Amino acid sequence: MAVLVSGASGFIGSHTCVELLNVGEDVIGFDNFYNSKDDIPKKIEKLTGKSLKFYKADMCVKADIHKIFTENEIDSVIHFAGYKAVGESVAKPLMYYGNNIDGTVVLLEAMKEFGCDRFVFSSSATVYKFPAVSPAIKEDFELTATNHPYGTTKMIIENICRDVSISDDKFACALLRYFNPVGAHDSGVIGENPNGIPNNLMPIVLKAVTGQLPSMTVFGNDYPTPDGTCIRDYLHVVDLAKAHVAALNKVREEGFSGCAEYNLGTGKGTSVLELLTAFEKVNGLKIPYIIGKRRPGDAAEYYAVPEKAEQELGWRAELNIEDMCKSAYDFAVKNA
Ligand code: UFG
Repeated sequence: MAVLVSGASGFIGSHTCVELLNVGEDVIGFDNFYNSKDDIPKKIEKLTGKSLKFYKADMCVKADIHKIFTENEIDSVIHFAGYKAVGESVAKPLMYYGNNIDGTVVLLEAMKEFGCDRFVFSSSATVYKFPAVSPAIKEDFELTATNHPYGTTKMIIENICRDVSISDDKFACALLRYFNPVGAHDSGVIGENPNGIPNNLMPIVLKAVTGQLPSMTVFGNDYPTPDGTCIRDYLHVVDLAKAHVAALNKVREEGFSGCAEYNLGTGKGTSVLELLTAFEKVNGLKIPYIIGKRRPGDAAEYYAVPEKAEQELGWRAELNIEDMCKSAYDFAVKNA
């Protein structure tokens, strides 16, 4: 039986395929390469020495998804595919709702039709309502659906999964709420390579240190945090990929059904300035940056309480902020 990975050539999808293949899983991947390169499947095979069956396919096109289910014995799906830029989602909400929601429904319908009922979804800490009662975020904290269309699509898809699990008592689903994934595979072969101008911190740092941007801006140093900059829970993408292997094992567990939510983070907060300092130190360079105004909508501080994932999935993040900064820079240099 194989696991189907949607968005398999994207940042987190590609690292997850590597970890799945490394533990001997039979992996089928698909991607429409909207925000990734078509040489990634070959790179995954080279890194693992295993074969990866790959389709160029669009999750919104029923015929594409049916073809994959018809040609393979798939028992579970890990779903990454989706548009993910917050700013773009505000400018083009219908594009986000159309692609992310419709595509997920097509995928879930195909799963139902082909008797596949194990599902792992790539959600986000953006589903929580900020400011929260505490910066240490637990799975039972209040949720929101109004941050931005990107975040709302994550919330809607979580709701869809919960509804499917009510209608079908065999449906087994893990909703994985990522905090801030960064870093790259330590080979430097795969990593984060967004098309266009990035909006997340690490890709911007990489553009600034490789000369693709003249400098970067720290968005505000007047927050109520020790150094005045925002605190987030940065998580190494290889740790995150391993969490998907653990979640897949969970949804395949005999007797497990319904939807379970898991925070995926290290449990440790790092400020923007701490991250920049760690990056400079571990890579022996200076980041050209200025301090600017706050970015609207940023919460001052939050980080995961990752205990539920540890207790129920047997997963814990192992890599630290230095590992994240070093691997991210190695990848950027090798792929500049
Ligand atoms: N930051 C800067 N300068 C930059 C970019 C970011 O100082 O050029 C700061 C931000 O203000 C924030 C921190 O770096 O304090 C992290 O910002 P990111 O954009 O990398 O990450 P966020 O925590 O804002 O975003 C995350 C996820 C999104 C999700 C969002 C919800 O990456 O997917 O939370 O608000 F939608």
